[in-house]
Amino acid sequence: MKVFVIGKGGVGKTTCSSAIAIGLSERYKTIIASLDPAHNLGDVLMTKLGNKPKKVVNNLYAIEADIDFFAMKYLKELEKSLKNVYRYLSVINLEKYFEILRYSPGIEEFSVLEAIKEVIRSNFSAFVFDTPPTGLTLRILTTPKTTLIWLKKLIELRRMILDRRSAIEKIQGKILFKIEDEKIEIPTRESDDAVIKELIKYKNEIEEIQKIFTDKDTYVIGVLNPDKLSFLEMKRAKDVLDKLDIELKMIIVNKVSGDVSLSEIKREFETNVRLVKLRDREIRGIQNLRELYDEIEGIR
Ligand SMILES: Nc1ncnc2c1ncn2[C@@H]1O[C@H](COP(=O)(O)OP(=O)(O)O)[C@@H](O)[C@H]1O
Ligand SMILES: [Mg+2]
Repeated sequence: MKVFVIGKGGVGKTTCSSAIAIGLSERYKTIIASLDPAHNLGDVLMTKLGNKPKKVVNNLYAIEADIDFFAMKYLKELEKSLKNVYRYLSVINLEKYFEILRYSPGIEEFSVLEAIKEVIRSNFSAFVFDTPPTGLTLRILTTPKTTLIWLKKLIELRRMILDRRSAIEKIQGKILFKIEDEKIEIPTRESDDAVIKELIKYKNEIEEIQKIFTDKDTYVIGVLNPDKLSFLEMKRAKDVLDKLDIELKMIIVNKVSGDVSLSEIKREFETNVRLVKLRDREIRGIQNLRELYDEIEGIR
């Protein structure tokens, strides 16, 4: 089971996701991962966390994913596959560009996806993700879909190139390419072409990530407060989720004091709604968080 807790900054994502993780850890071996570059999961769980899973209580582990680390990991893997594909291009000295690449658009989204992938690969049965505020989270969730659009185009284009090449080959025989005294045969078939293999491999990886978000056992849970701003932001988030075929399985209205009209929320989001009462002090530590889970419940 995978749980993604989303919502506006300050509504209580870290608090609610911690409570959910503690609750789930009574039934499953659970890990909670903070994906928010401004981590405060350790503060809420009252233990120091880092980039490796750390045991918090019995069946519960926690990690604050180091996005810089995953960015470098992502870029290193990119470099490796580029070198593998373009062996003959010694000009590709990506090392030199790492500093710039690290801060190029889109890298943060891919780095977070890399972190999600790595966490999901670890040996747990329940995964809870405490996400960054809505804007970045939506971009992260959208990234696989947009990436697949251009990957499919690139694969199409590469197939066209291979077709042209094999037409040329039929007329003039094998196509050779000379670099520094070495003659390299240019591939004309898909089965010999490292580029298309790499593109297809990458496409499969991205589809696998996309599946994580749309799986039946994935719970995307929106947290909001009884105020207009967090409600409106969640409404916009829901529109994006709808387009991505990601189901919003639950809304938690957190920090509730007094009466809240649930009908508007229920009507708008057409999903389960839970109320969590406003406490008179900050909620930190296992005991206090566990108590909050009783108000959330319903995640199986
Ligand atoms: N139900 C609640 N009652 C009282 N304080 C709360 C409640 N939920 C969260 N808080 C407090 O609100 C602040 C923001 O919560 P946090 O979980 O860090 O939000 P987010 O992760 O969405 O930014 C924290 O100080 C937290 O203790
Ligand atoms: Mg937080």
